[in-house]
Amino acid sequence: MLHDLDAEQIPRHVAIIMDGNGRWAKARGKPRLFGHKAGAAMVRETIASAIDLDIKYLTIYSFSTENWTRPEDEVSGIMALFVEVLSRELQNLQEQNVRVRIIGDLAPLPEKTRAAFENCVSETSCNTGLTLIVAVNYGARADIVHAVQAIAHEVQDGALQPADVSPEIFAAHLSTAGIPDPDLLIRTSGELRVSNFLLYEIAYTEIVVTDTLWPDFDHDEFFACVAEYQARARRYGGV
Ligand code: IPE
Ligand code: IPE
Ligand code: MG
Repeated sequence: MLHDLDAEQIPRHVAIIMDGNGRWAKARGKPRLFGHKAGAAMVRETIASAIDLDIKYLTIYSFSTENWTRPEDEVSGIMALFVEVLSRELQNLQEQNVRVRIIGDLAPLPEKTRAAFENCVSETSCNTGLTLIVAVNYGARADIVHAVQAIAHEVQDGALQPADVSPEIFAAHLSTAGIPDPDLLIRTSGELRVSNFLLYEIAYTEIVVTDTLWPDFDHDEFFACVAEYQARARRYGGV
């Protein structure tokens, strides 16, 4: 598959809405958490694929600000799963030179889960390879509102003039500050919506939706999405 791709047109930043764990489990007569476990296991392969392809930034949507509305046992199961996966994968991330960044608010997470994420970020902070951005308790609207509040404070303090607020200044106040906008957004499991993910950053991102459920999204599926991206003509409003 790899040789079918154009090495000159590899997306620098790929963002993924990892959807379909529940349906994958349901199809097997299993509880939803069984699907989340299978989905979490697939992330290791996704990271390996991104490294193979020389992608520089990979953002994965792992828990949204709206996912708290799910049944209590599913939420607590996911929170425990984060702890398990982060401790299991840390060594692998180090070996692969992956730097982990978080977008989203960790404060409302259970203490152990928050600590596991913070540990992973600090332990990998000197790595220089792939940047893995994990969106956890992330919602683009909350992130945008947070940026507006921060800018309002700076204006109030006289550090910034209202007329100086530009798209670039605004982007610098989002949790994705310093990260280039995604070139490719992949959503698995066929839903044609963005579900409050990176609303500001995806203005000119190419979107690929696959019917494959997240736990089945392997190397070949990833490469096929990149191939579809490479067949697109990006125009940015031009001709
Ligand atoms: C994505 O899979 C994982 C999270 C949102 C945490 P879902 O749990 O949304 O799976 P479906 O969409 O119900 O199949
Ligand atoms: C988006 O999936 C969030 C994550 C993948 C973490 P959802 O399953 O929560 O989105 P909806 O409910 O289908 O819009
Ligand atoms: Mg879903």
